[in-house]
Amino acid sequence: MGARGSESEREVAELWRGRVSDFDTVLARLREDGIDTSNLSVDDVNKVDLMHMGGADSTDELTERAGITGGMEVLDAGCGIGGTSRRIAYRTGAKVTGLDLTPRAVETGNRLSEHLGIADRVESVHGSVTDMPFDDDRFDVVIVQHCAMQVEEKDRLFSEVARVLRPGGLLAMHDWFAGRATPLLYPLPWADGPETSFLEPLDDAIARLRAHGFTPEPFIDQTEKGVEWLTRTRTAIDRHLAEGGELTQTQQRNIGISQTMIPNLSEGGLVLGFLFARSADQSRDS
Ligand SMILES: C[S@@+](CC[C@H](N)C(=O)[O-])C[C@H]1O[C@@H](n2cnc3c(N)ncnc32)[C@H](O)[C@@H]1O
Repeated sequence: MGARGSESEREVAELWRGRVSDFDTVLARLREDGIDTSNLSVDDVNKVDLMHMGGADSTDELTERAGITGGMEVLDAGCGIGGTSRRIAYRTGAKVTGLDLTPRAVETGNRLSEHLGIADRVESVHGSVTDMPFDDDRFDVVIVQHCAMQVEEKDRLFSEVARVLRPGGLLAMHDWFAGRATPLLYPLPWADGPETSFLEPLDDAIARLRAHGFTPEPFIDQTEKGVEWLTRTRTAIDRHLAEGGELTQTQQRNIGISQTMIPNLSEGGLVLGFLFARSADQSRDS
C-alpha cells in the first residue's frame, strides 16, 4: 500500500490477507478440482484464480469489448492473484501489469506467472489504486475488475487512472454498483460488513468519471447474467451433492456466495456490469 494508505485500505488489505491463497494452496485447489498440476496452462489455473463474477467468460468479454491487442500496455488495477492479467496477456499478447493492495496476492500472482512461463509479459506490483506507483501516460488500457466497489476514495481512484492512462486511453470497468434496494445481505464476496464495501450508484460513478475528464460509454448491465451464473453454479453443486459427491473448497465458497448474492442481485440491491470510459484526448501539458 502507498505511504498514504487510509484506514479503509488497511481494513481491505487485512480482509484479503486472510482470504487470498498462497501458491501451494492454489496448486492444492487445482488438484482437488481434478486438474493435473504437472503441466499447467493459463486456462487450467483460470479455474481458480479469477476472483469475479462470470469467470473466464466475463474476462474474455471485457478484453474483447476493450479492444485489447498485442503490443498494448495494460494495467489490471486490483488484480488479485493475477488471473485476469495472465489471461489477457496469454490471449492477446499484450503486456499486463497488475497492481494490488494485498502483499500475498502480489506474491502468489508473480509465482503463478513464473510457473506458467508468462512472467516476461505479466508482472504484479504491490500498491494502491489510489496512489499508483507508475509514470504518467503509461498505459493504453486500465482494467478495474471487481475492485472499485471496495475503494472508499473514488476520486483518487479515477484521478490516478486518468494520470497513468495515455491521452485517449480506455478505462474498462467490470464492477459492482449500489442498487436501489437496501439493506444488502452480508456477507458479500468482498465484505463481511460495511467496513470493506464502498458501493456507489452507477449515476454517481458516471458523473464522477465526467468530472475527471472521461467520456463514459453506455453502461452494459450484467446483473441478470450474474444471477444466471450464480444459479447455474449452485445447481451444478446441488446435483453433485445429490449424487453423493464431496464438496471442494471452491464449491463450499460458491454455496456461501450464492446464498446472499442471488437475492442481492435479483432484488435490486446490487448492479453489476461493464462501464467503459475514454480519457481526455489532449496531453495534460498542452
Ligand atoms: C474481488 S478481488 C478481484 C481481483 C481481480 N480483479 C479479479 O477479478 O480476479 C478484489 C481485489 O482488489 C484488491 N484491492 C482492493 N482495494 C484496493 C486498492 N485500494 N488498491 C489495490 N488493490 C485493491 C484486493 O486486495 C483484492 O485482491
